[in-house]
Amino acid sequence: MIEVRGLERKYARRGVHALRGVSFDVAAGQRFGIVGESGSGKSTLIRLLAALDRPSAGTVSFRGQRIDHLPERKLRFLREEMQIVFQDPMGSLDPRMRVRDIVSEPLGWRSPERVAELLAAVGLPADAASRYPHQFSGGQRQRISLARALAPRPSVLIADEPVSALDVSVRAQILDLLARLVEEYSLTLIFVSHDLGVVRHVCDRVAVMRRGEIVELGDVEQVYTTPEHAYTRELLAAAPDLRAELARLKGEADA
Ligand SMILES: Nc1ncnc2c1ncn2[C@@H]1O[C@H](COP(=O)(O)OP(=O)(O)OP(=O)(O)O)[C@@H](O)[C@H]1O
Ligand SMILES: [Mg+2]
Repeated sequence: MIEVRGLERKYARRGVHALRGVSFDVAAGQRFGIVGESGSGKSTLIRLLAALDRPSAGTVSFRGQRIDHLPERKLRFLREEMQIVFQDPMGSLDPRMRVRDIVSEPLGWRSPERVAELLAAVGLPADAASRYPHQFSGGQRQRISLARALAPRPSVLIADEPVSALDVSVRAQILDLLARLVEEYSLTLIFVSHDLGVVRHVCDRVAVMRRGEIVELGDVEQVYTTPEHAYTRELLAAAPDLRAELARLKGEADA
């Protein structure tokens, strides 16, 4: 589905070399995690995957077609097929728009039925449609972002630290929702996080990034249980354990 080869990104103005020869493939239906500390180049990489930015060198292909230097008018298909959810829903949701308009915007037309269907899919009440983003909690706002992202029926969902700004108790709920949506809509997922524990919960493959390079790439269970690179082991030591939180939530749901 996605093929990345020798990707470089230099930010000339600040002399930053944010990506240094990054290569990997993402197959259709895969849940691909990108993990690494702050400044390692994760967001730079996904901007290139989504053709929101251009590489200094290297290529990005989507379904076999180069997208790294296409003009915007030739990227219409990608703008529907690939959707992005960001860390901070407050920053990415227009505060002056009602939820129904936020969710319909990527469709380009109004469909109350489709809005209702999308809100239900992300676990929001139907009356959320007539409200504004500030009337919701952080977790609910991330549900709105997900509804909006699903609206044009994308095949690829990119999530850049989608739960990092949320309270720990809400994180597991949103991650579970994300996992369910990926399953239900057969999405290919690119999931960015600085937390390998979170990536393990939602992904099947993972790339570990450090200073603009991929230092380890493989099956997520394998990387998690037998990390090869010292940097991956450091990340693991720093990762809080989500399992306890998930077990607690499951216990509440069963009770
Ligand atoms: N538009 C930009 N102009 C100049 N430098 C940038 C720009 N965007 C990112 N950088 C630099 O590129 C490097 C990688 O940044 P990037 O945002 O990709 O990292 P990240 O892994 O997403 O970090 P975080 O976990 O904090 O989101 C950093 O040194 C950053 O300061
Ligand atoms: Mg980032």
